[in-house]
Amino acid sequence: MATLSLRHVQKVYPMRDEDKEEKKKKRKKKGEEEEPKKTFNLKVTDEGVIAVDDFNLEIADKEFIVFVGPSGCGKSTTLRMIAGLEDITRGELYLDGQLINDVDPKDRDMAMVFQNYALYPHMTVRQNLEFPLELRKIPKEEMDQKVEWAAEVLSITPYLDRKPKALSGGQRQRVAIGRAIVRDPRVLLMDEPLSNLDAKLRNQMRAEIIKLRKNLNATFIYVTHDQTEAMTLGDRIVIMRDGDVQQIGTPQEVFDHPRNLFVAGFIGMPQMNFFDGQLVKTDAGTYAVCIGEAQIELSDDKQRNLAERGIAPQRVVVGARPEHITLEDKPGSMIEGVIDVTEMMGSSVHLHINVDGKDCIIIVPRLELGSAGIESGTTVRFTLAPNTVHVFDPDTEQNLECL
Ligand SMILES: Nc1ncnc2c1ncn2[C@@H]1O[C@H](COP(=O)(O)OP(=O)(O)O)[C@@H](O)[C@H]1O
Ligand SMILES: [Mg+2]
Repeated sequence: MATLSLRHVQKVYPMRDEDKEEKKKKRKKKGEEEEPKKTFNLKVTDEGVIAVDDFNLEIADKEFIVFVGPSGCGKSTTLRMIAGLEDITRGELYLDGQLINDVDPKDRDMAMVFQNYALYPHMTVRQNLEFPLELRKIPKEEMDQKVEWAAEVLSITPYLDRKPKALSGGQRQRVAIGRAIVRDPRVLLMDEPLSNLDAKLRNQMRAEIIKLRKNLNATFIYVTHDQTEAMTLGDRIVIMRDGDVQQIGTPQEVFDHPRNLFVAGFIGMPQMNFFDGQLVKTDAGTYAVCIGEAQIELSDDKQRNLAERGIAPQRVVVGARPEHITLEDKPGSMIEGVIDVTEMMGSSVHLHINVDGKDCIIIVPRLELGSAGIESGTTVRFTLAPNTVHVFDPDTEQNLECL
């Protein structure tokens, strides 16, 4: 059994020389017009760089939790604090109700799988798998059983006597996972384990991890920058940005009810489309969104959510996923654009449409287009499905239904 709780966990790294340089440059540039180019926006205090801030999460026994977000958002740091490989600056970490901030990594009964496999090159696969058991002085017979079980679960039995260099990337990663599971840890931590594999193998290994999970009693925490991995693997996913948790929820919750613009844009492939628009009240007192000339009345549940929160008519960013936009003709609610590019995806076509200079993607089932297809340069009119439109405050970036 393994429940975990993270309460107000914070990580502050001391300033590195390169960060100091960056800060100096920023200071110099202040007052100048040009914004310094930066990929992330971490908070810097006199104490150092805040890599993770006020992280709160209760993880249930055997739950599969995924930390997802762009590079540098603090995923690995959080995982490493859980493993005990990194000190927790502030806050508490509990394992089954016991405070473990200061417990040694080897006494936490957790195992970790890294992106780069980290196998011992001079040992065979079998020896690699035996290693963590030997450290724990497990008797030979039991060790053999465990190694065979792990090899079976991961389909690496035929390679037990090979050295890692004689294996493919996918096989090496299976061995690395095998080495983590042989001793049946209470918590299995994985940091981008599939990132070094090509797309096809990654899909295959993703399915393997889903299977693996059914064979283990461990609680899983999995780190990735890939939203597809997060959506397919997680019972719940934690979306992070610049050291802050943006939203925690099931894949369906974060997809259907993104709390803010960042989550809306990060989750879902192709990305959600955003339009500048107005939230208005119609003569009948209901909410609608206006984008240019088009007016789209919102569905009943959206009406209720906005009304309950007393949302006033205002300027908004309207979000609509490519799969929730249709070409059907609904007078008064059509948006017009010109097709830039069409991408044939097999059973559907992705249309890239230029709407007032902005790119908008819509997914159209091929059946709807007929055999003639659709040419770039064509002007098309489309509308948004009223029950899947999102409205965001352009300044706070919050979803107005989730305030
Ligand atoms: N040892 C360290 N010293 C100082 N800063 C670090 C250190 N490790 C990571 N960071 C910084 O902390 C932030 C979060 O890093 P990390 O947790 O590795 O992000 P992720 O895994 O999401 O890509 C980054 O800005 C990174 O540069
Ligand atoms: Mg990382």
